[in-house]
Amino acid sequence: MAQEQQPQEQLPVTGEVSSIEARQATLQQPLRESIISPEKLEYAQGVISKDKAIKPFWVNKYKNEAAKNWDRFYKRNETRFYKDRHWIEREFSIFKSSEVEGEDNTINCLEIGCGVGNFIFPVLEINKRLFMYACDFAPHAIELVKQHEDYKQGRCSAFVCDLTKDALTDTIPAGSLDIVSSIFVLSAIPAEKLEASVRNIKEVMKPGGMLCFRDYAVYDAAQVKFSSNPGHMLDTNLYVRQDGTMSHFFSVEQMTELFEKEGFKVVECGYVHRETINRAMDLSLDRRFLQAKFIKL
Ligand SMILES: C[S@@+](CC[C@H](N)C(=O)[O-])C[C@H]1O[C@@H](n2cnc3c(N)ncnc32)[C@H](O)[C@@H]1O
Repeated sequence: MAQEQQPQEQLPVTGEVSSIEARQATLQQPLRESIISPEKLEYAQGVISKDKAIKPFWVNKYKNEAAKNWDRFYKRNETRFYKDRHWIEREFSIFKSSEVEGEDNTINCLEIGCGVGNFIFPVLEINKRLFMYACDFAPHAIELVKQHEDYKQGRCSAFVCDLTKDALTDTIPAGSLDIVSSIFVLSAIPAEKLEASVRNIKEVMKPGGMLCFRDYAVYDAAQVKFSSNPGHMLDTNLYVRQDGTMSHFFSVEQMTELFEKEGFKVVECGYVHRETINRAMDLSLDRRFLQAKFIKL
């Protein structure tokens, strides 16, 4: 999975500015659409449509034990699993923008589901004006973030929070954030809890603030692999890994509907396709991610 989450595809660079109107004018360029071939798409759809959800008892167990299973994941893997996200500047140029208005010259940001900080520490390097809140529901992950050599007071603040039920406003002032990043996190949340999670995030964002999103997309090779080995499917497009952590695969339609309903403007939302070649195993994988930028209205 460490490899799976290292997107390399170059996307069109879009300009980010401070006002909603200006953003609307400049960010309407569509992302490059997935270039997966019709044959591969048909194959993926065929495999996935034949898969069936496991028994409701197990579905509920995995959903109820999500925080426990992620915490065990970090206890076991510590900081060894994910690689730093060094593509942030290329994909989400807003983090380096000097035009975001921030009180005291500070650009206030939050990374939801920050894990051990593979996104937050590279992003703090990009722009000295950034202050990053970082939350995760796995206490071991937050502990590792706090032990990082770049964890410095005045630049970041990490805290334990389950986005689906703990109010972010308990820690972050309402309406105060310029940027929120959601990087392979909402995929860990079952569909029925997404609306409450997005509402929670919206509460702490400024009107005009941007949410930067990157996550798994439908028909990704990982989804096809899950469905090729039945026993992983919990719900439509939702699967469980061997370690009990869950992974949802999103469509543009689902994300657009979710964020528009919760009061965001979709300025960019599209599939990113990347073919990964494993030469040792003579294997080619079609990875599909969904990348989006949403503005709080
Ligand atoms: C795939 S990891 C991504 C970590 C990080 N964003 C990165 O890019 O390296 C998903 C993270 O989301 C966290 N997570 C999942 N559900 C959550 C929830 N309901 N509230 C807070 N964090 C959650 C997990 O603990 C895990 O650290």
